[in-house]
Amino acid sequence: MASAPKILILNGPNLNLLGLREPHIYGHTTLSDIEASCRQHAEALGLVVDFQQSNSESTLIGWIHEARTSQDGIIINPAAYTHTSVAIMDALKGVALPTVEIHLSNTHQREDFRKVSYVSQVAFGVICGFGAQGYIMALDAMAKKLINEQEA
Ligand code: DQA
Repeated sequence: MASAPKILILNGPNLNLLGLREPHIYGHTTLSDIEASCRQHAEALGLVVDFQQSNSESTLIGWIHEARTSQDGIIINPAAYTHTSVAIMDALKGVALPTVEIHLSNTHQREDFRKVSYVSQVAFGVICGFGAQGYIMALDAMAKKLINEQEA
């Protein structure tokens, strides 16, 4: 991997409403604020990011498939699809890119159905409960993983 590693950051349903949506759980930071801080941090780490959000499972799966030949890693907040989507898990397994799963909230502290994640089975790490900072932590983890692999 000679050039800057490319990371696809995917956001699932309702995350376009961040800032307005249940701020007592998800905070006041908007998705565009998160995108801006990811871009800034990625640049400092020497990563290139593609930041996307969709409310559609099919669109998310399409982006995962495209990533197979165009990206080096995936950071995903699958939102509600975390707990329901075998199809997103299979897509991530199929493209076999290093994946980090993130959640703004601590899903283990919430309703029982949020304690189940299909995506965790195919992620090398899971970050939850740190709010928007979780995206930055995921970029750090991804940079470390990709750079270590490059040096190995
Ligand atoms: C979430 C947690 C999910 O359970 C929920 O459906 C979301 C957001 C989070 O970032 O905390 O939409 O992924």
